[in-house]
Amino acid sequence: SHHKFLHCLSSFHSEDSSSISKVIYTPYNSSYSFILESSIRNLRFSEPDTPKPLVIVTPLHTSHIQITIYCSRKHELQIRIRSGGHDYEGLSYTSEVSFVIIDLVNFRAIDVDVENKAAWVQSGATLGELYYGIAERSRTLTFPAGVCHTVGVGGYFSGGGYGLLFRKYGLAVDNIIDAQFIDTNGRILNRKSMGEDLFWAIRGGGGGSFGIVLAWKVKLVHVPTTVTVFTVSKTLEQNATKLVHLWQYVAPKLPHDTFSAISFRKVNSSQDRQRTILASFQSLYLGGVDELIPLMQERFPELGLRKEDCTEMSWIESILYFGQIQNGTMDILLDRSYKTTFASPSFKRKSDYVKEPIPETAFTGIWSKLYDVDAKFVRISFVAYGGKMDEIPETATPFPHRAGNLYKIIYNVGWEEEDNIKSQKYLSWIRNFYSYMSSFVSKHPREAYVNYRDLDIGRNNKGKTSFVQASIWGHKYFKKNFDRLVHVKIMIDPTNFFKHEQSIPPFFS
Ligand code: FDA
Repeated sequence: SHHKFLHCLSSFHSEDSSSISKVIYTPYNSSYSFILESSIRNLRFSEPDTPKPLVIVTPLHTSHIQITIYCSRKHELQIRIRSGGHDYEGLSYTSEVSFVIIDLVNFRAIDVDVENKAAWVQSGATLGELYYGIAERSRTLTFPAGVCHTVGVGGYFSGGGYGLLFRKYGLAVDNIIDAQFIDTNGRILNRKSMGEDLFWAIRGGGGGSFGIVLAWKVKLVHVPTTVTVFTVSKTLEQNATKLVHLWQYVAPKLPHDTFSAISFRKVNSSQDRQRTILASFQSLYLGGVDELIPLMQERFPELGLRKEDCTEMSWIESILYFGQIQNGTMDILLDRSYKTTFASPSFKRKSDYVKEPIPETAFTGIWSKLYDVDAKFVRISFVAYGGKMDEIPETATPFPHRAGNLYKIIYNVGWEEEDNIKSQKYLSWIRNFYSYMSSFVSKHPREAYVNYRDLDIGRNNKGKTSFVQASIWGHKYFKKNFDRLVHVKIMIDPTNFFKHEQSIPPFFS
């Protein structure tokens, strides 16, 4: 099928598509491995025995995508769509069945319209390229997206997309106003021609289920010229447990202008070299330090925030600050291969939502679990919800985790590539931790964030998957919105051409 597929691709010679042969890579091409590895962001899925694509296509024109879809259907090859390659389970570049990658690395155009506060961005652009493109034209407009600048727009927008501004403006998908999409028949659709159901589904229903989104039209939002950031870190000996417990009551109710998160990791205390937990409280405030200090003194005096803990900067600098990019300039946002210090080479992550504060006494158990693992990168983060997220109905987009959530938990264990051999040990640890947390987090369903893809919570079969089986993971990611996503899938892709381990199934029984 591989040869027949290549023959099919090369049999198209329209004016637009004549160059497709230049963007086809097979294992016989010297650049195949380079292209494949260029955006693999989790080296757990870059082992010699990881299944590799038969062919990679890096389209230059939409016709290249249409041809690839046509030939893949004809020769029954699965397509994996890749924008930035950050999928936690590697679903954009590996598969257990024969497959082809459509890598959108050449679909990166960004067209900013400052006057109308809008922009078109192609899916293969990174968040950094989008931020840069907007900042070049305006320092008081931006787009509410994530911190890690190498994340691809295509996958990020497909699953919701939260970031520093989500308590002020909602998720990325709450700010998308149009899209350009290719369906399984190669038709190019926009918001009007695709209809509101499909437009709803592609804004948060998870990538790789409905078709390929080529580009998105987004609303730009206002940011002040000065924002303030701080990181205040406390060990257990400095009362961290009490502060974390209190934070659960305070942070979700902070004004919309505030982003607030805590991350925990084990460290050796500087005084006695005994192990302890370091809790780092991080915030972004959309305004100056003189407004932030009284606010924090009123709402969270126990943290003891001082002016010298805070730094005023521009919005774009705050992206570098939270991305832990020291001494970098804005140009770094254009570096797609940048290796962030807060993302380890190989990793496993999981997510949870918390609706009731965790009792103070329970944190002792959480800390001891953190002591239990010797992986190089272990971090648990709490990200406060509330603000605008409480005001958007659960059904507005497929992303359902809105009012009623105090915060999200991110569990992360990471290691160097050469430690992949020990991955089973690390996977067991994080699964055990997740299981320990079950009584403190959302239930029926235990909710999870689709952009924090986690195949532990359920997966489709290689062949047909029942609705009941898919609902196991589907209701966790989408709650009742899962049923509407299935309706849309039946309508747009009834033969289930676009599929993967957690794609929406096209049937109810
Ligand atoms: P990738 O290309 O791997 O795609 C992810 C999924 O979407 C795959 O299933 C893929 O097939 C599909 N897809 C990709 N492009 C598509 C297209 N054009 N049309 C249809 N389907 C498409 N999230 C968040 O909300 N806030 C954050 O701050 C962060 N930060 C972060 C940091 C780091 C280091 C990582 C590794 C990840 C995050 N994420 C995140 C999670 C991120 O949002 C998630 O992994 C996205 O799916 C990544 O999108 P990419 O395009 O990079 O991935």
